[in-house]
Amino acid sequence: NAADKGAYPYYMLKEVDEQPAVMRRIVSEYFDQAGNPSVDEAILAEMAKADHIYIIGAGTSYHAGLVGARLLEKYAHIPTSVNISSEFAYDRPLLSQKPFFIFLSQSGETADSRQVLVDVNEHQWPSLTLTNVDKSTLSREATFTMLLYAGPEIAVASTKAYTAQIAVEAVLAKALGMYLADDQAQAFDLRAQLGAVANGMQAITDSKEDLEAIAARFLSKPRNAFYIGRGLDWTVSIEAALKLKEISYVQAEGFASGELKHGTIALIEEGTPVIGIITQDRTAGLTRSNLEETQARGANAITIVARHLAQDNDTIVIPDVDADLTPLLSVVPAQLLAYYTSLGKGLDVDKPRNLAKSVTVM
Ligand code: G6P
Repeated sequence: NAADKGAYPYYMLKEVDEQPAVMRRIVSEYFDQAGNPSVDEAILAEMAKADHIYIIGAGTSYHAGLVGARLLEKYAHIPTSVNISSEFAYDRPLLSQKPFFIFLSQSGETADSRQVLVDVNEHQWPSLTLTNVDKSTLSREATFTMLLYAGPEIAVASTKAYTAQIAVEAVLAKALGMYLADDQAQAFDLRAQLGAVANGMQAITDSKEDLEAIAARFLSKPRNAFYIGRGLDWTVSIEAALKLKEISYVQAEGFASGELKHGTIALIEEGTPVIGIITQDRTAGLTRSNLEETQARGANAITIVARHLAQDNDTIVIPDVDADLTPLLSVVPAQLLAYYTSLGKGLDVDKPRNLAKSVTVM
């Protein structure tokens, strides 16, 4: 039974471990024999008419949207913005002439996101829901649906749905780019890359003991912790911080590392953990120097670094994959650091206080 935790102490750990299999499932569901993405042509035709794509989501799904927007802009060249559903529902920005909406929702039931979809439908704007739950409300009410194929996610802290959402967004970006005859999209060997991602995830989940030791050493005592990064690494830093705060109750924030000096660095004290995510060539040096600035003020600097950028003192080195797909790997150590911090404190990892798996009230 897919919803049984078997020998695992918590669903969250099982779901973290399932991520390589989810990547392979997405490859088998969304690629044909020739290695081309198979996405319903009606979806691509409708998206191709759009002059702006609006991604809508809450919580972790919003964070997955931040990655997807970059992929869509790169391969389909359509300006894409990412919006928190509870904000968009009551404070809608000025829209373009031909909007297309993508709803991201693991459950397909989040009330704030549905509120936006009701408005979208009233205006007869086209929409696509990416969800893990077939026939969920957001899936039924949108024009189109694509499934995440992550299998049931039970732990309140979302893990495999985040990586599945990014992988499916990548499929969509490549498929739409190819539909629009973009050379870069054509050349992007996403199927092979998702295979490499699956192997990389496996390598990370196989080294759990190291992450358990890092969590015990750096994260078990402090009240505050920071994740920092730039660009895609910044998008992962806010998801990583959300994981840590929601299950371990460490007050964690993700920051664009260049913004630290504009305020947040005042919070750094002796022993404050600052975790730098470093996977992008252009910004690696900048994030490293921001990390050093925090270290000079007493922070315990921890790094999650792509192998080709690794240096001697790095803490966690992750395998190299396509630069745009690094969130699929850099988030995994962060999920495990959150898990082990929560476990070490004796908390209920799967059912953190005050939180619900699906928020069906506004
Ligand atoms: C709740 C969950 C989060 C999730 C968010 C959005 O807050 O605890 O893990 O990211 O809802 O849920 P959705 O089902 O719309 O992705």
